[in-house]
Amino acid sequence: MLGTHASGCAKRPAGARSEAALRHRAANPHRKTLIMRLQDKVALITGGGAGIGAEIAKRFAAEGATVLIGDLDPGAAERVTAGVRRGGGGARSVALDVTSEADWTAALAGIRRAEGRLDILVNNAGITKRIPITDMPMEDFEAVMAVNVRGVFLGIKHALPLMKERGGGAIVNISSICGLVGHKYTNETYTTSKGAVTLLTKSVAVRYARDNIRCNSIHPGTVDTPMVQQLFKDPEKKRERLDEVPLGRLATALDVANAALFLASDEAGFITGVALPVDGGLTAY
Ligand SMILES: NC(=O)c1ccc[n+]([C@@H]2O[C@H](COP(=O)([O-])OP(=O)(O)OC[C@H]3O[C@@H](n4cnc5c(N)ncnc54)[C@H](O)[C@@H]3O)[C@@H](O)[C@H]2O)c1
Repeated sequence: MLGTHASGCAKRPAGARSEAALRHRAANPHRKTLIMRLQDKVALITGGGAGIGAEIAKRFAAEGATVLIGDLDPGAAERVTAGVRRGGGGARSVALDVTSEADWTAALAGIRRAEGRLDILVNNAGITKRIPITDMPMEDFEAVMAVNVRGVFLGIKHALPLMKERGGGAIVNISSICGLVGHKYTNETYTTSKGAVTLLTKSVAVRYARDNIRCNSIHPGTVDTPMVQQLFKDPEKKRERLDEVPLGRLATALDVANAALFLASDEAGFITGVALPVDGGLTAY
């Protein structure tokens, strides 16, 4: 169940409040204001139950969005949802295995019923199998492609019609530095999947721009989340990852969430088809 925050936003015409907020900001560029950057927006975040997705959900909610937390793990999604609500934000969890088209159909039908709109989709859910190409069992290859590519493809496929109907939207896909360059420490399967996300993003950006739908990708370097905690049990591996970053530290989930917030907000209204590294300079050399 959503609180009043969520139910109130369904009746407003798409983008109306945000345009007023932008005009206010333009007229008062240096004044602190209480207007939040995602005021009245509805955002679905896949893989929002942990790591980067959970941080994006919290960051978006703090900026006024109603966040829908889709995750394979219902307990994890519920915990993040409860945390957002305790902080006064609007949130609900959505049962969602991103690889399942039936789940996407049900999720979008539920959003249409409950919120009546979807302003932002963050395709964040992703997995990896740290096995080199020569040893990679094909079922593991398929499992990674199913979440990282099919999941993003399905999300866009099912979100676009509602966004178009409501006059626009913003899609943010979480790729990786491995979607931009070959990375010496990362396996070929993950790199293949994240490269696909980079060009899917650009294709959607170009083809749906006239529907006022923006689509951008974010390319984090190594982020200290549950995904890499197993790897970091080996201190040498952590040292390797630190040494390659010009800014000399790993990314935090908040670094990625801040970039997602910008790309999802109206402040990025003229930005689409961009592949934004959040990597401390790693892909700059
Ligand atoms: N952690 C990193 O170093 C790093 C670096 C670059 C890019 N990324 C990307 O960022 C994204 C988030 O990574 P993270 O580190 O937060 O991962 P994580 O493993 O910490 O969390 C991923 C979340 O996604 C959920 N999930 C997994 N499969 C799912 C599915 N089929 N359907 C719905 N939810 C599913 C998990 O339950 C979990 O809650 C991924 O796309 C990842 O590839 C991560």
